[in-house]
Amino acid sequence: MTRTPVNVTITGAAGQIGYALLFRIASGHLLGADVPVNLRLLEIPQGLKAAEGTAMELVDCAFPLLRDITITDNPNQAFDGANVALLVGARPRTAGMERGDLLQANGGIFGPQGKAINDNAADDIKVLVVGNPANTNALIAQRNAPDVPAERFTAMTRLDHNRAVGQLSAKTGALVSDVKRVTIWGNHSATQYPDIFHAEVAGKPAFEAVGSDQAWLENDFIPTVAKRGAAIIEARGASSAASAANAALDHVYTWVNGTAEGDWTSMGVVSDGSYGVPAGLISSFPVTTKDGKFEIVQGLEISDFSRARIDASVNELVEERDAVQELGLI
Ligand code: NAD
Ligand code: LMR
Repeated sequence: MTRTPVNVTITGAAGQIGYALLFRIASGHLLGADVPVNLRLLEIPQGLKAAEGTAMELVDCAFPLLRDITITDNPNQAFDGANVALLVGARPRTAGMERGDLLQANGGIFGPQGKAINDNAADDIKVLVVGNPANTNALIAQRNAPDVPAERFTAMTRLDHNRAVGQLSAKTGALVSDVKRVTIWGNHSATQYPDIFHAEVAGKPAFEAVGSDQAWLENDFIPTVAKRGAAIIEARGASSAASAANAALDHVYTWVNGTAEGDWTSMGVVSDGSYGVPAGLISSFPVTTKDGKFEIVQGLEISDFSRARIDASVNELVEERDAVQELGLI
C-alpha cells in the first residue's frame, strides 16, 4: 500500500538547524523509514535563495521518501495542510537588546505563525517550537491558535534531556541506552532543572550510580546541562545545530511513535497544573507518549531540593508569560 505523504513545515529552513534537519527528515528520521514526506520550507525573503539551494541538494540526494518541496515566505502557504510544524526560525538576541525587545520581536513572528497554523493546518497538526525563547514562543503561537487543541503546541527540551543522558553516561561509563527516566523541568534556559532522582542507570538508581555525590550533582552535572547551550556558543562561535536538529527529530519521533516501556522523555507542554506548575504555562515535564498523544507522568515524589529548582525555573516562565501578556502578545 502506498502511504499518503505527511506534510512537514519547517520555519527558518535556511538556517543552521534547518540545514542539519532537512536531510534527516527526508530520509525518514522524523516519522519513520516508511513514511513519505512533503517538505514546506518557510523563510523570510532574505532566506529564500539559500532555501532554494538546500532544496536543490535535497533533490540531488534522491531520497525515496521525499515527495515534494515547497519554498515560500508566506506562512499561510507554508502551513497549508501541515501535519507537523517545526518552528525553528526566531529572532536572535543581539547586543543591547533587552528581554522585552526580544519577546516583542519574537511575538511578531510566533503570533502570526500561530494564526496561520490555526487557519491552515491539518486537523491533526503537531507543533514543536525550537526557536528561542522556545517555551514562551510556543505559548505565543498556541494562544494565537484558539481552534487548535492547546496540547498540540510543544517546546523543545529534548536537547537538554539528551545532554543529561550524555552526561550520566559519561560519568558512569554506562551505555546511553541504559540511562532511563531522566527529567528536565521548567524552561529551556539556564534555570532548567535536570532531575536524576527518578532516573536509573543500568538498573540502579542514578544517584547511587554516580556515587551519591551531591557535590558533583550540584556543582557539575546541573550547571553543565543547564549551561551547555552557552558553552557550545562559546566554543563553536555559533549555537548548537546538529544536536538541536537531532533533538527535534527525537522529540517528534517519540511523540508520534511512543516512549519505551519503563521510560519517559522530557517535553515542554501546556501545564494542567501538575506538580504545582500554573495551568496554561508551557513548561518541561516528564512525559510518556503513545498513539501520538502524551501524558505527564504523575505521582513522582519531589524533594525540597528538587522543589526549589523546579519553582525557580517555573517562576522565570511566569515572568516571561506576564511580560508577553503586558506586551499584548497573548
Ligand atoms: P539561524 O540564525 O542559523 O537560522 C534561523 C533562520 O530563521 C534564518 O535562516 C532566518 O532567515 C530564519 N527566520 C527568521 N525569522 C523568520 C520567520 N519569521 N519566518 C521564517 N524564517 C525565519 O539560527 P539556528 O542556529 O538555526 O537557530 C534557530 C533557533 O533555534 C534560534 O532561536 C536558537 O536560539 C534556537 N535553538 C533552540 C534550541 C533548543 O533546544 N530549544 C537549541 C538550539 C538552538
Ligand atoms: C542551546 O541550548 O544549545 C540553545 O538554546 C542555545 C541558544 O541560545 O541558542
